[in-house]
Amino acid sequence: MIETSRTSLVLFTAANAGLVLKYYEDNKVHLAPWEPIRDSGYQTLNNFKVMGEQSEKDFEADKEVRLVAFNKDQTQVLGVCNFTGIVKGPLQACFLGYSIDKRFEGQGLMTEILDAGIAYIFANLKLNRIMANYIPANEGSGAVLNKLGFEREGYARKYLKIAGKWQDHVLMSKLNE
Ligand SMILES: CC(C)(COP(=O)(O)OP(=O)(O)OC[C@H]1O[C@@H](n2cnc3c(N)ncnc32)[C@H](O)[C@@H]1OP(=O)(O)O)[C@@H](O)C(=O)NCCC(=O)NCCS
Repeated sequence: MIETSRTSLVLFTAANAGLVLKYYEDNKVHLAPWEPIRDSGYQTLNNFKVMGEQSEKDFEADKEVRLVAFNKDQTQVLGVCNFTGIVKGPLQACFLGYSIDKRFEGQGLMTEILDAGIAYIFANLKLNRIMANYIPANEGSGAVLNKLGFEREGYARKYLKIAGKWQDHVLMSKLNE
């Protein structure tokens, strides 16, 4: 567990899958413009338990680190940050994805959570680069990355299919200095 001043970051597991599912249910409309369209079986407890089990296995294998930010009494998910696609060898890099509950936006919480998550990844997995990409219209996401010291490295046209449409992304990364 990683403690930040207002949150506790824990691994996404089958045990907390119910609360993580509730987070996505509560924030369906909030997150829809920034996420892929999922099929009807995606947002179910059974599927989230399966994904939680996979998250535990991928953590053990150094493939992914999916962190859930809880409030201090661990009754509510405030946000998530996922370090995925971890590649070792000469690349030593991964991707970062993140979101915060609509009710907790604008309080510096995403910055607090990512700051701690990134420090953990650099210190423990010894990666060289964390990559994070955002749709140009997502000004909040760009602002968070800039605040955390990510730098712009490029622009990829039709990079990800988000909300049903191939969307350009600004490519950002942070190096392990
Ligand atoms: C983008 C998101 C993660 C920001 O979370 P947050 O907790 O509100 O961010 P923070 O409060 O830590 O803000 C960090 C900085 O970004 C700025 N910022 C946040 N949202 C902003 C917005 N919509 N427009 C402009 N600036 C914004 C803040 O002002 C702050 O800068 P400051 O400290 O200089 O004032 C949140 O809005 C979210 O979950 N959005 C939907 C999911 C998403 O877009 N995920 C990323 C996909 S790439």
